[in-house]
Amino acid sequence: MNKKIVLITGVSREEGIGYGVAKKMAEQGFDVIITARSQEKAETLSKKIATGSVNVVAEALDVENAESVSNLADFIRSRYERLDVLINNAGAGFDFGVHPLETDFDSTKKIFETNLFGAWRMIQQFHPMLKASDEPRIVNISSGAGSFGDPQFGLGVHPAIVTSYGLSKLALNGLTVKLDRQFRKAGEKIKINSVCPGFVATYPGTAEMGARPVAEAVDGIIWAATLPPDGPSGGFFRDKAPLPW
Ligand SMILES: NC(=O)c1ccc[n+]([C@@H]2O[C@H](COP(=O)([O-])OP(=O)(O)OC[C@H]3O[C@@H](n4cnc5c(N)ncnc54)[C@H](OP(=O)(O)O)[C@@H]3O)[C@@H](O)[C@H]2O)c1
Repeated sequence: MNKKIVLITGVSREEGIGYGVAKKMAEQGFDVIITARSQEKAETLSKKIATGSVNVVAEALDVENAESVSNLADFIRSRYERLDVLINNAGAGFDFGVHPLETDFDSTKKIFETNLFGAWRMIQQFHPMLKASDEPRIVNISSGAGSFGDPQFGLGVHPAIVTSYGLSKLALNGLTVKLDRQFRKAGEKIKINSVCPGFVATYPGTAEMGARPVAEAVDGIIWAATLPPDGPSGGFFRDKAPLPW
């Protein structure tokens, strides 16, 4: 049987969540397509994962750029007959400490361009290839910062912290719900979920602030990427458990 194919965005750093997910999915037998704005960074990381029968392809991708996304879709269409899993991991704009009354909207728009429109653009382009899969899955990497109910990181907890980032993830969660309802209405098998990885130590100094290792965060992402046919869709999860919207 052909191996399942997963495409992951935003895999430019060995310390990042995207790399952790790519490595583990390769170990589980997936063919992995890792993408990053820098082709060189993606290639360097792909070589660290690719061993023996593990097939890892590295491609350049800027999710903000429609041409870059459609070029990647053309390439993958020409090489594979389908896509099984899309993980929208690329994310930007942790506007820590920027007061909402002093927000620079150019930077806010840029954050939305990556975190919301980037994921949306990817889903639009790859939808036909996902439909060709027997068990298509989309995972939008979101954040408790976009949740009303997350008691630790939620929108109502810290009024002046990560406003634009949090709102972009709130919108991404809304997109997850809208697309889920559309897929259901159309009778499509695609399952789409938002997943918060928790507070993860992907940057220096964050472990000291309580962030957990990437290895702990990836399990909940891979769970959503490999849900069985009776698994949930249109939800928001952390560590496989529902998170409040
Ligand atoms: N770490 C946490 O505590 C935490 C918590 C909640 C949610 N998350 C989410 O988890 C995801 C991964 O974050 P991370 O912590 O692993 O940090 P990260 O390594 O900085 O991951 C973000 C990735 O997105 C890429 N990216 C940014 N803009 C892009 C664009 N326009 N096109 C393509 N790729 C782009 C970055 O690439 P460049 O190197 O090119 O900038 C980077 O590879 C993000 O969506 C983040 O919001 C993280």
